[in-house]
Amino acid sequence: MSKKRENHPQWSSWLLFVLAATGSAIGLGNIWKFPYIAGQNGGSAFVLVYLACVLGMGIPMLMAETLIGRRGRLNPIDCMEVVAEEAGANPHWRWLGGMGILLGFLILTYYSVIAGWTIAYIFKTAAGVFLGKGASEVGYLFAQFIASPWQLIFWHSIFMLATMAIVARGVQGGLEKAVELLTPALFILLLILVGYAMSAGDFQRGVRFLFYPDFGRFSGESLLMAMGHAFFSLSIGMGAMMIYGSYLPGNVSIAKTSLIIAVADTSVALLAGVAIFPLVFANHLEPATGPGLIFQTLPLAFAQMPLGSLFGALFFVLLAFAALSSSISLIEPAVAWLMEDFGLTRPVACLVSGFGCWLIGLGTVFSFNRWSHLTLFDKTFFDLLDFLTSNLMLPISGMLLVVFAGWVMQPEVNRAELSTSPCLFRLWWLLSRYVAPATVGLILLNGIGVL
Ligand code: PFF
Repeated sequence: MSKKRENHPQWSSWLLFVLAATGSAIGLGNIWKFPYIAGQNGGSAFVLVYLACVLGMGIPMLMAETLIGRRGRLNPIDCMEVVAEEAGANPHWRWLGGMGILLGFLILTYYSVIAGWTIAYIFKTAAGVFLGKGASEVGYLFAQFIASPWQLIFWHSIFMLATMAIVARGVQGGLEKAVELLTPALFILLLILVGYAMSAGDFQRGVRFLFYPDFGRFSGESLLMAMGHAFFSLSIGMGAMMIYGSYLPGNVSIAKTSLIIAVADTSVALLAGVAIFPLVFANHLEPATGPGLIFQTLPLAFAQMPLGSLFGALFFVLLAFAALSSSISLIEPAVAWLMEDFGLTRPVACLVSGFGCWLIGLGTVFSFNRWSHLTLFDKTFFDLLDFLTSNLMLPISGMLLVVFAGWVMQPEVNRAELSTSPCLFRLWWLLSRYVAPATVGLILLNGIGVL
């Protein structure tokens, strides 16, 4: 292990870690997925539960996963093994690291397909395809686009190639450079969109939909989705934060950095909601439209605002980059594992894992067209994959990680890694040992119908 550790890279500063981890957290989950699943689950109740999950479970888990990574300083499988051994526990905890790697890999297979849509929309908005069109025409263009497997395969391939190219250049060469500028730029453009939604959208109705508590359309499955999405959005339970934590220099406070990441991530999701729903209502669209929601509302807004083609293209560029800074963290755990345990070079490891993702991604491509009629439990391949990974496997993996940090690792180790005030440490301790595992367990049992 010590040989592997010598070759294990490090971020060049703590700020770059924060930017990379924030880049991982902020992505399609905030801007594409959060609004559409909030829309499907009644809006405000979903938002409220999501926020509670971020606070009570997400943040302690984010801290737990990062601290395990920094303690182990290896890819998630070896990392779990050495940290378990240090704590005198069973080395089979390594399989939890393996589950994280698998989860990141599976999520990337469909993440890349949707990210491909955003790249396609850069060109469509820049070319003025939506100018002068109404809501139904924009909806029709979207339906026509996803009905074409070849187009989706093309953009999915471009996105996977971009991800592989960045990851192949390594932590300091590729990952750091990509996130430095883009995360702040996306934030600014979102603020501009919110400004537009305030002036041109039905702002009052949009905000009411998001924040005025109404549990009418909220079910047991909604609860599961809100929790799963809190973890998805913070990039936890998948080895991503563990691997980024493993590149983190030893003197940085994990508690502080985790809070920064969580606040940034949650603000972007809420801003996206506040930008999108006023436009949804002003254009008489249905909030429960599903995965196409932003692709049917935002082009409408851009088509109507001054310099809309420019702003629109820029927005989709930034969204594609936000997706890229997340996708690199989804594949990095698998790449680090292939390198450290199988001796592959970084480019070859990227090629192998990237090709695997691309191939399985075709299942998602086809579930929007050729296979859209093939369903299991009323879900297409994409719906099923998303449900299994985000709503079942992620919470299970996150819960086991927090149990590991809270019950298996020594408190002194946790205290040293988190480096925070005694009071905050105590709060983390209580949340990690009792509140988070018990709540995840109850919500899971309720979601699968046992309770
Ligand atoms: N958090 C990312 C998003 O919200 O788009 C998605 C993601 C990235 C999930 C990395 C998990 C992960 F490990």
